[in-house]
Amino acid sequence: MSDSPLFHDRLLSLGLARVSEAAALESAAWIGRGDEKAADQAAVNAMRNQLNMLDIKGVVVIGEGERDEAPMLFIGEEVGTGNGPAVDIALDPLEGTTLTAKDMPNALTVIAMAPRGTLLHAPDVYMDKLAIGPGYAVDTVTLAMTPAERVHALAKAKGCEAGDITVCILERPRHEDLIAEVRSTGASIRLITDGDVAGVMHCAEAAITGIDMYMGSGGAPEGVLAAAALKCMGGQMYGRLMFRNDDERGRAAKAGITDLDRIYTRDELVTADVIFSATGVTTGNIVHGIKREPGWLTTETILMRSKTGSVRRMSYRTPVK
Ligand code: FBP
Repeated sequence: MSDSPLFHDRLLSLGLARVSEAAALESAAWIGRGDEKAADQAAVNAMRNQLNMLDIKGVVVIGEGERDEAPMLFIGEEVGTGNGPAVDIALDPLEGTTLTAKDMPNALTVIAMAPRGTLLHAPDVYMDKLAIGPGYAVDTVTLAMTPAERVHALAKAKGCEAGDITVCILERPRHEDLIAEVRSTGASIRLITDGDVAGVMHCAEAAITGIDMYMGSGGAPEGVLAAAALKCMGGQMYGRLMFRNDDERGRAAKAGITDLDRIYTRDELVTADVIFSATGVTTGNIVHGIKREPGWLTTETILMRSKTGSVRRMSYRTPVK
């Protein structure tokens, strides 16, 4: 057996797929049962158990919350066996707890792993996000542009009319003005009720998902996870942290963030090569959700490495325990 770092990296990526798979399998029993908390807890327990089997010296930098708020997978928790590379771990054991509880599309279990110190320690605040897929010049769209300018700029770069562009936005009262401005350009909008990691990932596969651009505010931790995914799939992303009060500014200070107005590019959110794994809980455009048949559960996982640009889709069938 080889001892090279490359070998470990490739082997670890397969281990990471087991982590997101395990979380999805445990949350399966809670799909459509109306209980967000139980679904999330099941995913957290399973993700933590599997993660602790990996030969890594891991630290959770994006997790379930700060130490006093989350008993498991809290920010700063050390994970893995302690033998192996020092890595940052970003995770969301169930991205879309409400989607799962209501059996709506695009709930995922998500985990990313990168060398220690290379994932932004994003505090639990909102982030203004903007993403497009691969194949466009750098800064084709920027956060400095108005939403309407972004639509026109992307249409020009794509060689189409504004009316041919589809923008994905979280349906929230805070996005009313954004939605109205995007509509005024003639672009269409795919409104989602939750799950902006999937929302951003959809831009990377526009031909399949029909989504060209993601805009609007959502969780900053989810922003780092989405940047990790896009770094593997291709595409551009920008994020700016948003602070509503002193408590949130304090969270940034605790996370070591001093420039509160900074706009982060994808590669500033995730500064080195990253491995990303997501397993479908409910079916979406990126991966299928868990298939339940008498006696069997089947999952689909997307496992990606930015170093090689490899994207693996893996199906896994296991007997119901
Ligand atoms: P959960 O996984 O906690 O259910 O979060 C889902 C989510 O929709 C994220 O995808 C998104 O970033 C965030 O919540 C948006 O927050 P809010 O619901 O406060 O607008």
